[in-house]
Amino acid sequence: MQADFWLERWQNQEIGFHLPMVNPRLMDYWPRLALPPDARVLVPLAGKTLDLGWLRAQGHAVLAVELSEDAARAFYAEAGLSPTRCVEGAFIRYSAQGVDYLVGDFFALSAAQCGPFGGVWDRGALVALPPELRERYVAHMATLGAPGVQTLLITLEYAQAQMNGPPFAVPEDEVWSYFGATHDVELLLREDILALEPRFAARGVTALDSAVYRLQRRA
Ligand SMILES: C[S@@+](CC[C@H](N)C(=O)[O-])C[C@H]1O[C@@H](n2cnc3c(N)ncnc32)[C@H](O)[C@@H]1O
Repeated sequence: MQADFWLERWQNQEIGFHLPMVNPRLMDYWPRLALPPDARVLVPLAGKTLDLGWLRAQGHAVLAVELSEDAARAFYAEAGLSPTRCVEGAFIRYSAQGVDYLVGDFFALSAAQCGPFGGVWDRGALVALPPELRERYVAHMATLGAPGVQTLLITLEYAQAQMNGPPFAVPEDEVWSYFGATHDVELLLREDILALEPRFAARGVTALDSAVYRLQRRA
């Protein structure tokens, strides 16, 4: 899943992952993090998700990181915002009303450029990446966040042999293998979503769960 794959998807508007509403599980479970409104929130691999506006409405300053400039432009246009735009090293920064985008490769993001943050919303980031990149993603995220940072993570669970990702299956034991040594890991919800996701059933998936985790970095 390299840059060209995703940029082409944005160019062709093959963005079936985009939800036309704020993610209901974000609204249900974000309060469990009990983050103060002035905590900054990082949204990696953000697409043009409406979740950014919801997080902003909770008081958080939001930093989205996304490869596709089309996605960033679309987010602001659809939100009725006119962002500023400037080149910042390897990234392009868009900014309006407390929601910033850094357009570029997440793996090129330094802690200095990212800045401090208290929370992470990961929907469609970890599960967007194939296994070798998932490990890199987790390791890179660890270079950005400080102890105490909390993440709300949504994963998908299905038999990987039934369908090629993305989105990829990330079972619970894999979540523990990534985060168990460095984070407190709490499974908040596992739910059967097969009936809600006809695209998966059409591709041969016979059982599909979604899981929501709260992660808190210890060290
Ligand atoms: C499955 S989509 C999820 C988007 C969003 N989180 C949502 O819930 O709608 C994954 C997104 O990650 C972006 N992406 C993939 N690899 C990336 C990378 N290395 N750096 C930044 N963005 C990336 C893609 O362009 C795509 O918009």
